[in-house]
Amino acid sequence: MLRSLLSLFLCFSAITPFLNCESLANVITCSGIVPMRHRNDKISITDFGGVGDGRTLNTKAFRAAIYRIQHLRRRGGTLLYIPPGVYLTGSFNLTSHMTLYLAKGAVIRATRDTWNWPLIAPLPSYGRGRELPGGRYLSFIHADGVHDVIITGENGTIDGQGGVWWTMWRQRSLRFTRPNLIEFMHSRNIIISNVIFLNSPFWNIHPVYCRNVVVRYVTILAPFDSPNTDGIDPDSSSNVCIEDSFIATGDDLVAVKSGWDEYGIAYGSQSSGITIRRVTGSSPFAGIAIGSETSGGVENILAENINLFNMGIGIHLKTNIGRGGVIRNIMISDVYMENVRKGIRIAGDVGDHPDDKFNPNALPVVKGVTIRNVWGVKIQQPGSIQGLKNSPFTGICLYNINLHGVAVPGTPPWKCSDISGAALGVKPWPCSQLTSTHLTGSCSIHF
Ligand SMILES: *[C@@H]1O[C@H](CO)[C@@H](O)[C@H](O)[C@H]1NC(C)=O
Ligand SMILES: *[C@@H]1O[C@H](CO)[C@@H](O)[C@H](O)[C@H]1NC(C)=O
Repeated sequence: MLRSLLSLFLCFSAITPFLNCESLANVITCSGIVPMRHRNDKISITDFGGVGDGRTLNTKAFRAAIYRIQHLRRRGGTLLYIPPGVYLTGSFNLTSHMTLYLAKGAVIRATRDTWNWPLIAPLPSYGRGRELPGGRYLSFIHADGVHDVIITGENGTIDGQGGVWWTMWRQRSLRFTRPNLIEFMHSRNIIISNVIFLNSPFWNIHPVYCRNVVVRYVTILAPFDSPNTDGIDPDSSSNVCIEDSFIATGDDLVAVKSGWDEYGIAYGSQSSGITIRRVTGSSPFAGIAIGSETSGGVENILAENINLFNMGIGIHLKTNIGRGGVIRNIMISDVYMENVRKGIRIAGDVGDHPDDKFNPNALPVVKGVTIRNVWGVKIQQPGSIQGLKNSPFTGICLYNINLHGVAVPGTPPWKCSDISGAALGVKPWPCSQLTSTHLTGSCSIHF
């Protein structure tokens, strides 16, 4: 009993991040948020002419199989089995009541033929494509208005072959915003588990205007220098649970968003109730990010037991003037970081604008951000916390934080401005704006 209590304590403390916590009985998980359904009706992609030779284009097979699931509507839904092999295909849409099951050794690989890639309308909360004006390319795997969808299996791979898109981005020859690897819009009761996501053209997993989404036991990989390959971006979505995953990409590992400037303010759809736990990863940008598109508001976020290696920024809250939106009740706890340029950054002047029609009086509000139990080694700069002059960030609470690194002579470890809050047990000691006396008042947090 004592031993298990002790290991539970160790498990949830940042000092021993490598402890195997799976063996403990009381580990909190995403289970129960979305029911894991067993499907009696099973079909295989090969029943629809699918060929896993890596050369045959299987777009018709995927679309026909999913059309069959959508229209035959078997009780309890249908499982689409992808056997071992490499299935080259164009983009396809998912439907409700289906499981996409990738066997061990199954690869669903995006075609490199980008010429005929379908276009869809921009998201209303963004007003335009995220990187270029106008519409955007359809996600490789796309779903709109679905529910009860599971993507799982034996760690098969969904390969976006993003290289061809990254080259167009580098050569500035893209005509529209690149496709996500997988996007769910207006959907609910979604599980993504035991899948490997490889080389996404753009963001990897993008639930937008969704609720009840579970992402667990996934591996997300893209090269360190691949542009904008965010891992998981819950966007204007609620009740999202991400856990037990490894993410190594070229951009933020997990970034919670909710729309962009005047479009996001008008659409007004927040992200709330997001849990991120036991995520490990590496990237030149941020580990746990909020923003910078937060115009619909972001609240009730819990990130815990996060391990970050070779990162640009460990924890990054980012917003901007013209963005509006309230970011509140954020709890980030038990983070281990190693070899990181900047440990913690909270900033009110990050990210570009969709156009020049943004309202400069639409100031973001940031209040109630607790960051605690952080252990960092080889940290170049502990952090900066800079609010806005006309909208100071309040209730910024740092507790039990140790960021070890090489002090650069002449530069203060922390940069702060236009903030208030409290700090206790923080090394190196943060700026004078954070006092140790308000720890119970402004720094209590409620879920
Ligand atoms: C997939 O969904 C998109 C967006 O809803 C739609 O434009 C497209 O026509 C759909 N494709 C197919 C093959 O149904
Ligand atoms: C799949 O990967 C997950 C996460 O890395 C791991 O926990 C699980 O054991 C793997 N499952 C199989 C069938 O290989």
